[in-house]
Amino acid sequence: MKKVKVELGSNSYEIRIGADLLTRTGLWLRERGFSGKAAIITDTTVKGLYIDALNQGLTIAGFKAATLEVPAGEEQKSLESAGRLYHELTSSYAERTTPILALGGGVIGDLAGFVAATYMRGVPLIHIPTTLLAQVDSSIGGKTAVDHGQLKNVIGVFYQPKLVVADIDTLKTLPEDELTNGMAEVIKHAVIRNRNFFDFLDNNLEKARAIDMSVLEEIVLENVRIKAEIVAKDEKESGLRGILNYGHTVGHAIEAASNFQLKHGQCVAIGMIAAARISNKMGKLDKSDVTRLTDVIRKAGLPTEMPDLKMEDIIQAMKHDKKVQQDKIRFVLLKSIGDTFITDEVSPSLVEEALLGQE
Ligand SMILES: NC(=O)c1ccc[n+]([C@@H]2O[C@H](COP(=O)([O-])OP(=O)(O)OC[C@H]3O[C@@H](n4cnc5c(N)ncnc54)[C@H](O)[C@@H]3O)[C@@H](O)[C@H]2O)c1
Repeated sequence: MKKVKVELGSNSYEIRIGADLLTRTGLWLRERGFSGKAAIITDTTVKGLYIDALNQGLTIAGFKAATLEVPAGEEQKSLESAGRLYHELTSSYAERTTPILALGGGVIGDLAGFVAATYMRGVPLIHIPTTLLAQVDSSIGGKTAVDHGQLKNVIGVFYQPKLVVADIDTLKTLPEDELTNGMAEVIKHAVIRNRNFFDFLDNNLEKARAIDMSVLEEIVLENVRIKAEIVAKDEKESGLRGILNYGHTVGHAIEAASNFQLKHGQCVAIGMIAAARISNKMGKLDKSDVTRLTDVIRKAGLPTEMPDLKMEDIIQAMKHDKKVQQDKIRFVLLKSIGDTFITDEVSPSLVEEALLGQE
């Protein structure tokens, strides 16, 4: 097992990464001074697969755990679901010291995190991410949220967990498209911060897609290191943390223009290529790096071509994005693989050219 610490002063916490960790989580909670009750929030799919292993360890460590279940899917990231969960927490007599264990993907992490942050003004939160995206991204950094109508993540709060347990064995049951979806964030982390890790991905993505556990462990570990370092330097996203939005300005716009029919990872993949092309057109990034990024995205099984959507819808959606500040669209761009800069000097016509692949 590997450990990475997110250094946030009194809010610091550890991320544990390795195989067969679910049964050991109860003991680790006990070591952290928790005892008595625990509440597990999970979705129906993940419950069927992993609740027994988690419960086994919790029981051995002396916990009495209640399981609060929601159906799988983004629709559950809502105030209505949060309301039902508050009700179940009060019904199971959850107290201010009762830890909430978020067992699942990013949807469960965001929803359970939001509930933990607000129930009784905040109860301890433990993330147990079971998708690649949740292990490399959403469980680290303390962003919690629910959606409101078509608006994603508009109601939320920063709330750091006490511990993150990333059991890579859970990735064995993940549907292929969910693994691919998570790979977009994996590539993003490498491209913004670590060229050596990017090279590793270039050489090992095929093995990762074939569920080579040692490669997957290395991927999760390196991603966690990158995200933990960025979050530690800028907990509330007032500066550096903004680079994690690489590929997301265009990516979110494509996602919205597709009425959320395209998966987030697919949209981010195209967004990353567009941002690299823009960087190149602005004379900052070498053409060979654009080609390499496109190749790695292709190797991950992600799309590299613009989907069949109206350009004006994408540009319009971009103007409505959260990242727009004082009417300027904010872009994270590349100087080279591993090195970013932020600008609001990108014109919509440049975005259009980049999406259409014009040289
Ligand atoms: N908080 C953050 O910083 C942050 C960052 C990125 C994304 N997010 C959020 O994360 C969410 C997406 O998360 P996601 O991609 O993990 O999706 P998800 O949570 O919907 O999980 C995807 C699907 O996989 C299933 N699943 C989960 N683990 C499984 C396993 N081990 N085996 C088999 N099936 C499994 C789930 O039941 C679900 O059907 C979005 O709501 C997004 O906004 C948050």
